[in-house]
Amino acid sequence: MSNTYSVREAVAILDFGSQYSQLIARRVREAHVYCELFPYDAPAEEVLALEPRGFVLSGSPNSVYEPDAPRLPDYILDSGLPVLGICYGMQLLTHGLGGRVAPARRREYGPALLQVTDLACPLFAELPFVLPVWMSHSDRIEALPPGFMVVAQTDNSPIATMAHPVRRLYGLQFHPEVAHTPQGSQILRNFLYRVCNLQGTWTPAHLVQETLDAIRQQVGQGQVLCALSGGVDSAVTAALVHRAVGDQLTCVFVDHGLLRQGEARQVIQTFEREMGMRLVAVDAVQEYLAALAGVRDPEEKRRIIGEKFVRIFEREAARLLAADPASRPGAPRFLAQGTIYPDVIESAGAGRPGAHRIKTHHNVGGLPEDMALELVEPLRTLFKDEVRAVGHELGLPDEIVYRQPFPGPGLAVRILGDVTWERLETLRAADAILLQELAAAGLLRQRGEGGTAQSFAVLLPVRSVGVMGDGRTYANVVALRAVTTDDFMTADWARLPYDLLARVSNRVVNEVAGVNRVVYDISSKPPATIEWE
Ligand code: XMP
Repeated sequence: MSNTYSVREAVAILDFGSQYSQLIARRVREAHVYCELFPYDAPAEEVLALEPRGFVLSGSPNSVYEPDAPRLPDYILDSGLPVLGICYGMQLLTHGLGGRVAPARRREYGPALLQVTDLACPLFAELPFVLPVWMSHSDRIEALPPGFMVVAQTDNSPIATMAHPVRRLYGLQFHPEVAHTPQGSQILRNFLYRVCNLQGTWTPAHLVQETLDAIRQQVGQGQVLCALSGGVDSAVTAALVHRAVGDQLTCVFVDHGLLRQGEARQVIQTFEREMGMRLVAVDAVQEYLAALAGVRDPEEKRRIIGEKFVRIFEREAARLLAADPASRPGAPRFLAQGTIYPDVIESAGAGRPGAHRIKTHHNVGGLPEDMALELVEPLRTLFKDEVRAVGHELGLPDEIVYRQPFPGPGLAVRILGDVTWERLETLRAADAILLQELAAAGLLRQRGEGGTAQSFAVLLPVRSVGVMGDGRTYANVVALRAVTTDDFMTADWARLPYDLLARVSNRVVNEVAGVNRVVYDISSKPPATIEWE
């Protein structure tokens, strides 16, 4: 997980297994400080290669006094750099430096009021003396390690914040990274700016320039291939590589016929016509339909679609490399991929409890493993919102940059049961109506409390009775799904206005042949998932 692109100011976050670790990283990035998240037992050289100017230790479901609980690696304190321990991180500092941690009489979970008692502490600079904070812990600090002082308390935790100002070691019993600690971002900024003395100059825009240099250095005169899926990650990857090495990039777009209305056309329009990229568009619609005929099991659909993509991509790549006069035998070949930071973190954390997946997410951008291509992954240190910022910076159109996530297997997993061309067209027409109405109402993007993070139609494998004019109909049912979510791990159904739902329903039954009923999905995740299969 090393960072290949040079960055001046950085902080290392050690992940001890808290569900909030990624959030810490996002908050630090939002403060314009570059950071990376490392498993707590990552080799010291790997972490120190980042040249961190400070460390943040995450929370954990463990207790420090359990025999095989994760320990604080020696290099952290040996470095003499500032350390911020959050929850378990604070307990590790306490335990490691000679204080005492013990089970609290009762587990403290939820909101608490923090009273700052040491007004000189830089962590609380420019903040009120009493702040709402979010607690989630069952152990607490009973005795401070030597040299530390209490900085803040709550009714339940007499040592809710501790500090060793000389050694620049700080511990927070609460979670500054969660939204339930409204001033948490300011506390983290105070740690970064006032304790670590960082400037906060990092932005995705700076990264564009550094990334362009790194791509040029890695690729040299070599040819680069990139699979475009229509999604934001592959689009931004292609745009970056194109900006860096121009015509050395060839994009391959496999049209599997499972995209939404107008999407295939838009990919070709944007990348080939507007951005002037070399684009090979493969019409594989019939090939996919044939492979999916009669397949109803969603995991089987995913497997077939993923595998077929790999085969088609390999075929096209082989054809291109053989035909391209610029590619000499033995010349380096590269594959640009839109891997983003959460993918990297997730694969590094694989095997941790809770890291298992409920569905296999075969990304259609999946890499043929046995192709001897070196990877170019310019987005591998970026979170999704940062990828969008880079895309915007590169001048990609808003419809691509702010596009809602779309599953790799496309509409195949939104048509329950058999996937046929006719059913695809039915779903596309209904889905387009929903998206048009949401766009017209300004609800296609999630902003603060409003809008939707993901919205789509699903074609159900049942028929229902209806009446139209004097006649009885027996036709398809379309379900509408619209959710709000920040992380797609949990989601709530969107409270769409009734009149919008009414308009969509009317238009779908009137304009889409073969549909006589529309239902709205009011399930949250969990227990439901966002997709229906
Ligand atoms: P679920 O349905 O698991 O979806 O709540 C969470 C997010 O993942 C997307 N998703 C997929 N993405 N390949 C993908 O690339 C898949 O097979 C797949 N299945 C679900 C889903 O659209 C949502 O954003």
